[in-house]
Amino acid sequence: MKTARRHKIVFTALLFTIFLSACTDSGQSISTEPPPPAPSELSGGEKLFNNNCAGCHGIGAVGTDRGPTFISKIYEPNHHADPTFHMAVKNGVRQHHWDFGNMPKISGVAKEEVDQIIAYVRWLQRENGIR
Ligand code: HEC
Repeated sequence: MKTARRHKIVFTALLFTIFLSACTDSGQSISTEPPPPAPSELSGGEKLFNNNCAGCHGIGAVGTDRGPTFISKIYEPNHHADPTFHMAVKNGVRQHHWDFGNMPKISGVAKEEVDQIIAYVRWLQRENGIR
């Protein structure tokens, strides 16, 4: 009787461990997935984003330890409309949503280039179900 009970406990613990490791595995595969390839008409925006923004906002806009992801409801077009992006690049952003610190203004990126960056970011957001 006692042994049977112990077996049951061991078996439950084993199941639980398998369950836990399945959870962490799937979690990892989500975060390490490379961003989907951008359609060719967005490749200019992708390049500009990677050169000027990805250092903090991450390749594929997934975020880094220096800046937030844009794959978030917070940055959907209704919350942060396109002018916010122009303002952010032109003036920088004072820390208010997160603990990453301020975003410095980004020089050397023209207004039309920011438009291309926005188109790319909006596409990434749509790909991830944010619209
Ligand atoms: C040196 C790091 C850094 C770089 C480079 C950078 N950002 Fe940011 N950005 C941040 C941080 C940090 C925040 C979050 C500030 C907060 O809300 O606390 C932010 C926030 C933003 C926001 C949200 C603005 C708001 O009003 O909440 C936009 C839009 C943005 N960045 C666009 C860009 C674009 C476009 C580029 C590239 C041209 C870029 N960022 C490059 C660090 C950076």
